[in-house]
Amino acid sequence: MTYAPTLTTAPGGPTLSRIVAGCWRMAEWPFSVAERVRWIEECLALGVTTFDHADIYGDYRVHGLFGEALGAHPALRGRMTIVTKCGIGLVSPGRPAHRVKHYDTSAAHVSASVDEALVQLRTDRIDLLLIHRPDALMDADALAQCFERLRAAGKVLHFGVSNFTPAQFALLHRRFPLATNQVECSPLRLDPLHDGTFDQAQDLGIAPMVWSALAGGRLFHGDDGAARRVRAVLERLAAARGESVTTLVYAWLLRHPARLVPITGSRRVEAMREAVAALDSQALDARAWYEIWEAGNGQPVP
Ligand SMILES: NC(=O)c1ccc[n+]([C@@H]2O[C@H](COP(=O)([O-])OP(=O)(O)OC[C@H]3O[C@@H](n4cnc5c(N)ncnc54)[C@H](OP(=O)(O)O)[C@@H]3O)[C@@H](O)[C@H]2O)c1
Repeated sequence: MTYAPTLTTAPGGPTLSRIVAGCWRMAEWPFSVAERVRWIEECLALGVTTFDHADIYGDYRVHGLFGEALGAHPALRGRMTIVTKCGIGLVSPGRPAHRVKHYDTSAAHVSASVDEALVQLRTDRIDLLLIHRPDALMDADALAQCFERLRAAGKVLHFGVSNFTPAQFALLHRRFPLATNQVECSPLRLDPLHDGTFDQAQDLGIAPMVWSALAGGRLFHGDDGAARRVRAVLERLAAARGESVTTLVYAWLLRHPARLVPITGSRRVEAMREAVAALDSQALDARAWYEIWEAGNGQPVP
């Protein structure tokens, strides 16, 4: 069985497991506290020691569900790194003051979000805090100063962003050393391969995290043309390689030289195992890699 190694995302940055466990959907999983503890332990046993969160997940409930598991087994905290995000204001019963969905990267909001996350997650520190979405009103100088204060207080150890364009990333990175840009990428979402996101990551030596590697499950059950086309290619290549489609998709991502750190989204440990197996599977040659790219692109390689 493959055990996921770790990777330091940036010079002086955090050390994450090479495959990260995503907790976005945890509120939908019919798990008792004991089952959540078992799920965490099964992830850890695979070397998947980093857990990805956001304050808004599960309508602001997932931090608390995860914290409940850590409360039941406090020793788990020392065996994991926690990534979480803030900066989105959802209209939600969990936030009655929000009348409209909005972004807020003010120091007051970020600091308050961190304090709330520490309480809900039942931890004294966040290993990596990300600004969840680009905010048109982001004051980069003020946010960098806020990051400094949170780091000095020991509440957050490292900082990064999510879904930022290269220009937005550079704006903040020039003021404060960022540890990652967490973006969507899969055979059905090729954008960061070509919009400068992964070029910038490779240039700066800052490993991106990748969300929805399986396109949120669309790779398996999508009945649109692109999903069918990609699925056919993946199934053929996976069968030839003697591995699952999930393993092949993760191998396709791991092949990229920017050192992508994919986040799983499944509640099934078997799916997690298939993702981790990609770390041991044969590296894809350029022909197979571009065959998958071409299926996702829908146009021949130019
Ligand atoms: N930064 C951001 O803006 C952002 C946005 C979205 C997500 N994220 C992060 O990325 C993580 C992963 O995102 P994601 O959940 O969209 O990842 P994903 O792995 O692309 O999708 C997971 C979904 O696919 C299903 N699935 C997996 N294997 C399958 C199979 N063989 N057949 C059918 N369905 C299958 C899963 O169902 P089962 O549970 O039944 O396997 C689950 O519903 C999230 O948890 C979150 O931490 C970040």
